[in-house]
Amino acid sequence: MADSNRKLYLNGEFVPEHTACIPVLDRGFLFGDSIYEVIPAYGGRPFRWEHHLRRMQHSLDAIHITNPLRDDEWLAIFDRLTAQLPGQDQKLYLQITRGVMPARNHLHTDDLMPTVLVMSEAMKPRNQATVLRGIKAITLEDIRWQRCDIKATTLLANILARQQAAEQGADEAILVRDGHALEGSASNLFMVSHGLVITPPKDSHILPGITRDLTLELAAEAGVPFAEAVISEEELAEADEIWVTSSSREIMPVTELNGRPVGSGTPGPLWQRLDAQFDAYKARLRLHALEEDNNG
Ligand code: PDD
Repeated sequence: MADSNRKLYLNGEFVPEHTACIPVLDRGFLFGDSIYEVIPAYGGRPFRWEHHLRRMQHSLDAIHITNPLRDDEWLAIFDRLTAQLPGQDQKLYLQITRGVMPARNHLHTDDLMPTVLVMSEAMKPRNQATVLRGIKAITLEDIRWQRCDIKATTLLANILARQQAAEQGADEAILVRDGHALEGSASNLFMVSHGLVITPPKDSHILPGITRDLTLELAAEAGVPFAEAVISEEELAEADEIWVTSSSREIMPVTELNGRPVGSGTPGPLWQRLDAQFDAYKARLRLHALEEDNNG
């Protein structure tokens, strides 16, 4: 439920959530003609904001919308929103639509003013019991389009997959196209085989996840061997470990795939190493934020 005191940013103004309105002729509403980002803010500081704003720019360029704000303007909005929950871990959601047209028409004109929405909410910590047990996943055919690198709000195929997973008692659907396991319905995919961490290469069939990239950086730091390579459905079924990564799930172990245990059926040793490193990384960010808050 909306917190009536909390404000969000909509088209240049900070307004209470319950009074914020978007016209019905907004193309984001009518066509899903819009893109989005989800940015965690640890200790209230937007996490890897440069990476997120770069990915947002990639999405905007792909659908020919001009970025309506400069980086410093985006950051000022993030700061003002996160300041409503001082020092807390939060999740920033931002969405840019192509704007409002006088009438519904697939064809758009180029003179539209994009609708810009940014909101922040407290980020619930991951459920520790779930993390320690690992989650269940199923594989499903990927019925999405050919431009999954665009973080588009048109997410029907992802929603159907996630729902089907839930109906089968699973927490995530791993999407398979032409025999290749690509990513989750809302996460990137990793597997471990004989000590090697493998994740599919970035191309137009997956979202270039910010957590994915960080996971690879952490693996490099820890001296854990990794490769960006195609994962076949058969290889996935034989994996020693499977993880999914996202801003909200962080690095999450998958311990059951299609009803069968993954490896030993418990979160594996390489997951434990990288998850601990991820935790240490976040702790450093929170400490840094606290020090900055205290100094000024
Ligand atoms: N989703 N792949 C897909 C299809 C996703 O929707 C997401 C994230 C990711 C992981 O990206 P990142 O590490 O940058 O969060 C990969 C967000 C969290 C969402 O839709 O809410």
